[in-house]
Amino acid sequence: MKIYVPRDAAAKALGADEVAAAIEAEAARRGLPLTLVRNGSRGMVWLEPLVELQTGAGRVAFGPVTAADVPSLFEADWKRHPLALGLTEELPWLMMQTRLTFARCGITDPLCLEEYEAHGGFEGLHRAIAMSRAEILQEVIDSGLRGRGGAGFPTGIKWKTVSEAEAAQKYIVCNADEGDSGTFADRMIMEGDPFTLIEGMTIAGLATGATRGYVYMRSEYPDAVEVMGEAVRIARAHGLLGPSVMGSGRAFDMEIRVGAGAYVCGEETSLLNSLEGKRGVVRAKPPLPALEGFLGKPTVVNNVISLASIPVIFQKGAAYYRDFGLGRSRGTIPLQIAGNVKRGGLFEIAFGMSLGQIVDDIAGGTASGRPVKAVQVGGPLGAYFPRALFDTPFCYEEFAGAEGLVGHAGIVVFDDTADMLKQARFAMEFCAIESCGKCTPCRIGAVRGMETVDRIARGDAAAIPLLTDLCATMKSGSLCALGGFTPYPVMSALTHFPDDFAPMKEAAE
Ligand code: NAI
Ligand code: SF4
Repeated sequence: MKIYVPRDAAAKALGADEVAAAIEAEAARRGLPLTLVRNGSRGMVWLEPLVELQTGAGRVAFGPVTAADVPSLFEADWKRHPLALGLTEELPWLMMQTRLTFARCGITDPLCLEEYEAHGGFEGLHRAIAMSRAEILQEVIDSGLRGRGGAGFPTGIKWKTVSEAEAAQKYIVCNADEGDSGTFADRMIMEGDPFTLIEGMTIAGLATGATRGYVYMRSEYPDAVEVMGEAVRIARAHGLLGPSVMGSGRAFDMEIRVGAGAYVCGEETSLLNSLEGKRGVVRAKPPLPALEGFLGKPTVVNNVISLASIPVIFQKGAAYYRDFGLGRSRGTIPLQIAGNVKRGGLFEIAFGMSLGQIVDDIAGGTASGRPVKAVQVGGPLGAYFPRALFDTPFCYEEFAGAEGLVGHAGIVVFDDTADMLKQARFAMEFCAIESCGKCTPCRIGAVRGMETVDRIARGDAAAIPLLTDLCATMKSGSLCALGGFTPYPVMSALTHFPDDFAPMKEAAE
């Protein structure tokens, strides 16, 4: 019998290791031969640990399973088991998705190269190896892929800048310092399908002439660090990394580096400083990292999901990928749904679904059963959206038009008990704690911001225009997105939820 129990950190936090041990013990007790696969997560976190049993008809899902449930799972009539959910592939949450980047995640054994290849792995790399550098770049440009870390800069243009830069050494740096609250797509793919990232980084190397890559990972992701490290060792042992990638005569190798856990180290120049062994302080741009990056050399810095989306683009073609999406937001986006929701997890879908559909239909509304009050999209620096803006399509330009950002596509839902003044204060406090201290609007502004929100909370109406002024200064005067984007949560809270800023209401009366 073949059983799957995820090794994903979220599943483990919910007891997956105990469930796996109980399954092994129960199989041994019954004298049953067992193949236990520790797969990645399917992304349905509310059902974790999600156990799957291989049957003649396909994989059948059970969840959420505890170790105490395990003996009953071995009974003959598993179809009637109260935790049986039916065929995994037919679960509505999965059927509604378009899984391109996450196509293999949860299906394969993350560290089994044979399974990776059996599910389309390395088809993209094979195709890229047969192409010229210019052709690879054109394919990425044609796909319409934009940076999934948050800024949405066209990936192909970034690669072209690095490719055209003259230098003896160039680098590919993968930003895996996934610091946004409510996001976990980078972690999930690194734990559930690490070869995808390796394949994507290798193609980036071929496209730009970079021969070395680094994955900069946060120390809070020990499981992902372990899986990625093992995957790199396996890839190297099989000639997929090294002096001649797949016998192509072109070199590319990579290593894993672990950061010490500062939010600002997710900012690319701060990350590069940290990677060089320096303090994680933001560098002024220009020069762009594409021209003077790691150790002063031309460097591609891309988010995990940007790089992990490359293999499918080369496997299926730029036109296939570009066909999904809306407007200038092409392809798919792995939404990460969290907070006060019935169904939280990873949901990959083409750009364009409305925020309301995501919150009401996909997430199923709040777990508390109370009305949704606000949805923060794009991490701690993202805006709070009220229900009045729920028809906004999930796309870069449309979200920017609503004074918000898609960011890394984290969606955190709050019910009507949330106090938006407190959330605004939290944004300033977060910025004050995480500020690298390099520029004044952020270093001083965030502290003054907390004090100003406190004044409003005490009933000082005069502090409201002061807060608005301060936000405008931080937005236009900060050196990087930490100070520059903190005004998004603050101003959206103030604009959309004026009742929570009581003096504002009184001043208007
Ligand atoms: P940015 O707009 O300054 O730059 C975007 C990217 O494009 C950078 O890599 C930059 O070097 C590159 N670039 C710009 N012009 C270029 C050119 N002409 N040629 C080549 N490359 C060029 O944005 P930034 O500061 O890198 O990122 C801000 C975003 O990060 C925010 O939108 C926020 O959503 C996101 N973010 C994500 C987090 C996460 O956990 N993933 C955490 C915090 C922020
Ligand atoms: Fe540092 Fe904040 Fe300035 Fe960014 S905005 S450079 S984090 S002080």
